[in-house]
Amino acid sequence: MIRLGVNIDHVATVRQARRIREPDPAWAVVLAELGGADQITLHLREDRRHIQDDDLVRILATATVPVNLELAVTDEMVAIARDHRPHSATFVPERREEITTEGGLDVAGQAGAVTRAVAAVAEVGILPALFIDPDPEQVAASADAGARAVELHTGAYCEVWGTPAAESELHRLAQAADRAERLGLRVHAGHGLNVRNVGPVARIPQVEELNIGHSLVGRAIFVGLQSAVAEMRGILDREAARR
Ligand code: PXP
Repeated sequence: MIRLGVNIDHVATVRQARRIREPDPAWAVVLAELGGADQITLHLREDRRHIQDDDLVRILATATVPVNLELAVTDEMVAIARDHRPHSATFVPERREEITTEGGLDVAGQAGAVTRAVAAVAEVGILPALFIDPDPEQVAASADAGARAVELHTGAYCEVWGTPAAESELHRLAQAADRAERLGLRVHAGHGLNVRNVGPVARIPQVEELNIGHSLVGRAIFVGLQSAVAEMRGILDREAARR
């Protein structure tokens, strides 16, 4: 069984294009759950380009499955997480000019700040996770920082999917997952996954959770969110059975 975390940020992206009240990401929570989501994931960015503070409150009130908050390593975001108590907090790098989260967090390069942020959320019972590239140094640094889980960045794999280079990216993910498990870390993965490229990642035995957003919300325009989530749920169940 692989948990499917549905990232609903882009429902808010569509709303913010008009800065009005709909579509409301809290509605997406219900439909994602009906489609089989095991978790709702959202990213409260420092620039508030999609999810707003008020969305976090309403999403936490609506969701009956765990909520995973993605956040930057800043005092403001740590304070918000501590106030609102999502199930898990996944720390991600943030740069204002980026279109989406582009690389993993450099845990090794900012060990002090990450260790403090991890401790601050763990202290109030939030599961701390770190979004990192599938790099052995970053995996080791994540364990040293006190994280309970790593989310392996699948973006590089997704970019080369369908080319011979995909094999080596997949190997990096599998190696990082193995190393993380040996260090006692839970293994999550995500970024850029869709119905075509998700299979090999879902078959990595240590991967227990995938967080998927853009492709599900994009597909939802055509088939509806509940159907898009149910389709992905079916693929993950089939792939997990093959491990
Ligand atoms: N996981 C993390 C940590 C992310 O930052 C994102 C993007 O917000 C995702 C998963 C989902 O990526 P995508 O929208 O490409 O599915």
